[in-house]
Amino acid sequence: MNNKIVVKVYPDKEQAAKEIAAEIAALIRARAAEGREAVLGLATGSTPIVLYKELIRLHKEEGLSFKNVTSFNLDEYYGLPGTHDQSYRYFMNTELFDHVDIDKAKTHVPDGTVPADKVGEMCAKYDADIKAAGGIDIQILGIGRTGHIGFNEPPCAADTRTHQVKLNELTIKDNARLFFHDKIDEVPTSAVTMGVGTILESRKIILLAWGDGKADIVRKSLMDAPSEMCPASWLQKHSDCVFAIDAAAAARL
Ligand code: GLP
Repeated sequence: MNNKIVVKVYPDKEQAAKEIAAEIAALIRARAAEGREAVLGLATGSTPIVLYKELIRLHKEEGLSFKNVTSFNLDEYYGLPGTHDQSYRYFMNTELFDHVDIDKAKTHVPDGTVPADKVGEMCAKYDADIKAAGGIDIQILGIGRTGHIGFNEPPCAADTRTHQVKLNELTIKDNARLFFHDKIDEVPTSAVTMGVGTILESRKIILLAWGDGKADIVRKSLMDAPSEMCPASWLQKHSDCVFAIDAAAAARL
């Protein structure tokens, strides 16, 4: 096995967020000094909220500007418009974009409302737009308990591109509990997600995981041989990937 993932264990998620936000800020500032865009890959879920809080603090208290930032989010529920309070577009607006000086026209989230026969076209354009922006500099990831990254549920090959996926039962249950006021019937059954292949093209990847609920899947992703049955395990093939995790998520390593 050729696992190059760097594991960084932090006492708590706040300290992890502080360090990662500082790295993102340094990228944004370095690019701004060169008159260039910084391209961020962003994630949703409860995990990155602490990171977005710190980025907002850096904007409000330390003058970090997001004017030269272009962003691409990992995924979106299929069927939810961006105005729906459980859509990922809504999440990104309320958790980050509305609080910083980013130009929303440069923030990309897959469109969950395109008709079924246009999904393929929208996905191909998403991948093309990432390429046209110069590729993703830093991709932030969470991880689902099925081992999904974005919404790439197992089994998932390493070379998938942005595409539509059916959601796994465990994911639907987890997301109902966390986000859909526990109403399982309201969780969409499919989503549009960047593929694992798309994610692996990012120059740097930082996966975040907090709490003992993630300890088993973190172990599997890092220690088992890369396989379709754990999409996050494909990250072992990337040459600049960091798992930034708290002590509880690291408990089984
Ligand atoms: C959703 C998202 C994933 C995210 C996962 C984990 O399924 N599509 O990108 O990593 O949730 O969520 P949480 O961070 O709340 O544990």
